[in-house]
Amino acid sequence: MASNALSLDLKEEILRLKKEKNAIILAHNYQIGEIQDIADYVGDSLGLAYKAKETDADVIAFCGVHFIAETAKIVNPTKTVILPDKDAGCSLEQACPAEDLAAFLEEHKSKNYYVIAYINCSGGVKALCDVICTSGNAVRIVEQAPEDRPILFVPDQNLGSWVMEQTGRKMDLWQGACYVHVEFTRQAIRRIQEEYPDAAVVAHPECTYAVRILADEVCSTEKMIDFCRKSNKKDIIVVTESGMLHRIKKEVPEKNLIPGPTDNCACADCRYMKMNTMEKLRDCLVNLSPTVEMPEEIRKRAELPLLRMLEQSK
Ligand code: 13P
Ligand code: SF4
Repeated sequence: MASNALSLDLKEEILRLKKEKNAIILAHNYQIGEIQDIADYVGDSLGLAYKAKETDADVIAFCGVHFIAETAKIVNPTKTVILPDKDAGCSLEQACPAEDLAAFLEEHKSKNYYVIAYINCSGGVKALCDVICTSGNAVRIVEQAPEDRPILFVPDQNLGSWVMEQTGRKMDLWQGACYVHVEFTRQAIRRIQEEYPDAAVVAHPECTYAVRILADEVCSTEKMIDFCRKSNKKDIIVVTESGMLHRIKKEVPEKNLIPGPTDNCACADCRYMKMNTMEKLRDCLVNLSPTVEMPEEIRKRAELPLLRMLEQSK
């Protein structure tokens, strides 16, 4: 009872601050349930990028990880972009430092690569690429790549190889991976399928090939909602980060959702996404800090491939 009253107070405080600062709260599908419930918009990286671009709020409180908040800053340089925890990183972002990519491109200059960067990367990497993509539009973006140039796809090798399967387009893949999605194994998914033999399986493309081939559908987090809504199966095994289940449960309450298990756990949490709490969200609205900042020269260079993506995925 006491903790319910406390969370009610916290909720009211956040809503009051939001109004006071003319802020919008954007949250990724992997955020904790309480944050999803208080947000103005919850979605995947693509939806969040569109929302960040179109908002007229003065402050964008971004509940996700650093690279997504950075995306909001790239398209909104004059706005204050804050995030509850500035240390909320991403293993994919870490797998591809901008200096390493720059050195690789310099070494292979003669290839004249067309560089496609998955949005899960730093502003520095975005500034070095030709176009950005998300899991929701990667196939479309690769289909529109120039035919006469080889493609370098960074940093996720699993999303990259899934896109190659879908498009038939050959690409050179940076060898990064999401530490959460590679934890799902073929044997763990097989075991849960035996428990629920009638269940449909939906998986994120950051999963390995061995897991993807067990899925009825491979798609971005936002498209998972549509899949669940249209599926004629009552039981659905959701092979992605655990926060997604809260969102699907709200949108499609009639389904029985089963979290995709790993070898060691009944479900998978992203430690970065889960760094954000309601208390930290309140504090960042009070202090208007931590903010997302980037050198203007990098921001400008990163904006072009980001706008190209938004244009190409219409
Ligand atoms: P989505 O854009 O599909 O939500 O994916 C983002 C992400 O970080 C997946 O791990
Ligand atoms: Fe990055 Fe993986 Fe976490 Fe998504 S789930 S934010 S790709 S570490």
